[in-house]
Amino acid sequence: MPPSPARPLSPSSLPSKLERDYAAFLVANPTYAETNAIDEVRATEFRRLDDQHLVYLDYTGGGLYPVSVIADHAAFLTTHVLGNPHSVNPASALSGSLIERCRAHILSFFNASADEYAVVFTANASHALKLVGEAYPFEPGDQLLLTFDNHNSVNGIREFDRAHGATTTYVPVEPPDLRVDGSGLERLLDELPRTAPGGHHLFAYPAQSNFSGVQHPLEWIAAAQGRGWDVLLDAAAFVPTNRLNLSRVHPDYVALSFYKMFGYPTGIGCLIAKRDALQKLHRPWFSGGTITVASVQSDRHFLAEGAAAFEDGTLDYSNIPAVDAGLTFLEQVGLDLVHERVRCLTGWLLDTLSSLRHPDGARLVTIFGPLSTDERGATIAFSVHDATGTVLSHAAIETSAAQAGIALRTGCFCNPGAGEVALGLPPGELDRCLASGDRMTKDDFGQCLDGGESPGAVRVSLGLASTFADAQAFVTFLRRFLA
Ligand SMILES: Cc1ncc(COP(=O)(O)O)c(C=O)c1O
Repeated sequence: MPPSPARPLSPSSLPSKLERDYAAFLVANPTYAETNAIDEVRATEFRRLDDQHLVYLDYTGGGLYPVSVIADHAAFLTTHVLGNPHSVNPASALSGSLIERCRAHILSFFNASADEYAVVFTANASHALKLVGEAYPFEPGDQLLLTFDNHNSVNGIREFDRAHGATTTYVPVEPPDLRVDGSGLERLLDELPRTAPGGHHLFAYPAQSNFSGVQHPLEWIAAAQGRGWDVLLDAAAFVPTNRLNLSRVHPDYVALSFYKMFGYPTGIGCLIAKRDALQKLHRPWFSGGTITVASVQSDRHFLAEGAAAFEDGTLDYSNIPAVDAGLTFLEQVGLDLVHERVRCLTGWLLDTLSSLRHPDGARLVTIFGPLSTDERGATIAFSVHDATGTVLSHAAIETSAAQAGIALRTGCFCNPGAGEVALGLPPGELDRCLASGDRMTKDDFGQCLDGGESPGAVRVSLGLASTFADAQAFVTFLRRFLA
């Protein structure tokens, strides 16, 4: 925990570097003090981080679970009998009612009206995205529009689009901020040829980049819908520290994973979909749980209504109550407080990383993406350079960070489009390297591109339990790379 700013310093000792930095940080970020309650949450719910001297900076990879949610959930499981839902027996009825309670809680958490939206439980955000991709009624003449900045679980939808003879178009992000030019996007939304009469056109983008932290405008949702597009919003990296208000913006489909919000359970996400947008989807198969009636002899099946048609097999009914509890936990801590806290810490990290200089004045760090906290979240990707400007191996930095007890991530984070632009990989070179062979390892790819490791960046990300001390420990670690 950062030291309390009110703590008196011993007159005989100078304040430690941490204390001086923290005091200066508080002066520059007066709203941070309003989030002090989270220091208490860190000390109680996430104490294991400090007990193990672990500096956790991978919240975009996965959030952390609070101990009380796990303890309460374990106590609940050991004192209740839960059965496979869809029966009136008491064990089954309890599971069923807890599932419906959690669905209602998800809608209220995101301010979504139950008349407008339905919640489909999925294994994770990728599964939610795939449900849309595989069932979206693409036909020749239809369009799938994607931002370069997308997770591979969104990029993969282009394979469904291609299989149905529709067209995929990418709208680029521009360096150095890695944002999309809004007028270029609007032009594409207006002008992309959409030949099929009554065709279906899908625009998919992330509310927040898992590479650069850029928050793409939510205003694009209405702008695209007004031009006849359906909108799939990948909210996986956005919702852990930002409020998504589905009474203000109305995407057709929203995908997210709950472990990114509160760490546990790891196997549950959801698709929040407009009810009419769900009806537009054509499921490519049926399974247990998704039909009202199916017959072998008459070769017919009838899909269930709404969310049930998309939930294959048995839901994770013993863990869904923990999602409910995780949402309650976030509500009690206050998502706005978490948001403000990580915003302040992100600003400090952006400024401090940018200011680190080798003795000859050369930069230690190049940040990929916006350098201010405006319309960006708490994910920062960057490269580290030696005094000659040569980029240091991201894999080596990950290894040294791990040895120093710092959890961060390196690579392209399953977001090749943002990575290719950030790292300046020329399209011709990518075509050349990716043209040959049926299989390619990351090492082969790196060797082909520049004879080195596969291209990548270093990424740190903040979340629910982050403190100033975490951010400061990371900067102290990075100073090791100064000449
Ligand atoms: C923006 C974004 N979309 C989608 C995903 C995929 O999430 P999951 O692996 O939980 O399916 C991630 C995971 O990091 C992500 O950051």
